[in-house]
Amino acid sequence: MTTSTQWQLARASAERYQRILTPAILGPFARALVDFATPQGQEQVVDVGCGTGAAARYAAKAVGYSGRVTGIDVNAGMLEVARALPAVQGAPIEWREGSAAQLPLEDKSVDLVLCAQTLQFLPEKLLSLHEMQRVVRPGGRVALSLWCAIEENPYFDTLVTAVSRHIGPETSAGLQSAFALSDAGEIHRLLEEAGFAQTETVIALHELPLPPLAEFVPRHVSATPMAAGFNRASEEVQQAVIGEVSEQLSRYQMNGRVQIPFRSHMILCKQ
Ligand SMILES: C[S@@+](CC[C@H](N)C(=O)[O-])C[C@H]1O[C@@H](n2cnc3c(N)ncnc32)[C@H](O)[C@@H]1O
Repeated sequence: MTTSTQWQLARASAERYQRILTPAILGPFARALVDFATPQGQEQVVDVGCGTGAAARYAAKAVGYSGRVTGIDVNAGMLEVARALPAVQGAPIEWREGSAAQLPLEDKSVDLVLCAQTLQFLPEKLLSLHEMQRVVRPGGRVALSLWCAIEENPYFDTLVTAVSRHIGPETSAGLQSAFALSDAGEIHRLLEEAGFAQTETVIALHELPLPPLAEFVPRHVSATPMAAGFNRASEEVQQAVIGEVSEQLSRYQMNGRVQIPFRSHMILCKQ
């Protein structure tokens, strides 16, 4: 496990990511990105920074057996977990280790590039966007999701604040980094600089039901780059984090259930 702000999770953390984070938060947003990009039957799709493959799997179902999907990630642990999951009913998925800054794909070889909650972590954003343009066919599209500002995502905001206060900013940086590219103006300047002329943006709002927070918060943290710092903290400090998050979010809890709004930019760039 690392404290990386680029989400370089080791295999065990990648398994927790798939078991805890994907069903609760990342999966619904990966599905929303795929729906937003409206994949058609037979299309060839690449999921850049696929992680454990949530978007790739939804896309494989959407394009059907005659389509083709490739999931690309730099992290071998994430890809191992992706490969070990049961096959979906749809297009075959090829999992490839590679960098967004140097996609292992031919020019103009795919119809749709998906990049779900990943661009914000890439050190070479412009180069990576140029790579996405290079591999997409004329008439194809690039679909990106990026969290809206952390203040608009109360669960993440409260968790980052509590971890920073009780453990330290070097630990909360592991989650804070997910909001490094959240400003709509900044995103559009970057896309313009990369040469994307036609873009369509919406804000996806999903009210996600989470397990009781006293149980979910430590499980969630264990599946993020914050795990090492959190595990080093005393039991008392860990409980202080969990208590603060539960209390701050009590307005979203009712009858033992909790439902919290999450907001993400969804951006479709046409070639
Ligand atoms: C927050 S995860 C998102 C994973 C997945 N797209 C999802 O929605 O669940 C960010 C992913 O970006 C990957 N990543 C980071 N830097 C990368 C790079 N330079 N090239 C490709 N993938 C990268 C990480 O390994 C990680 O799997």
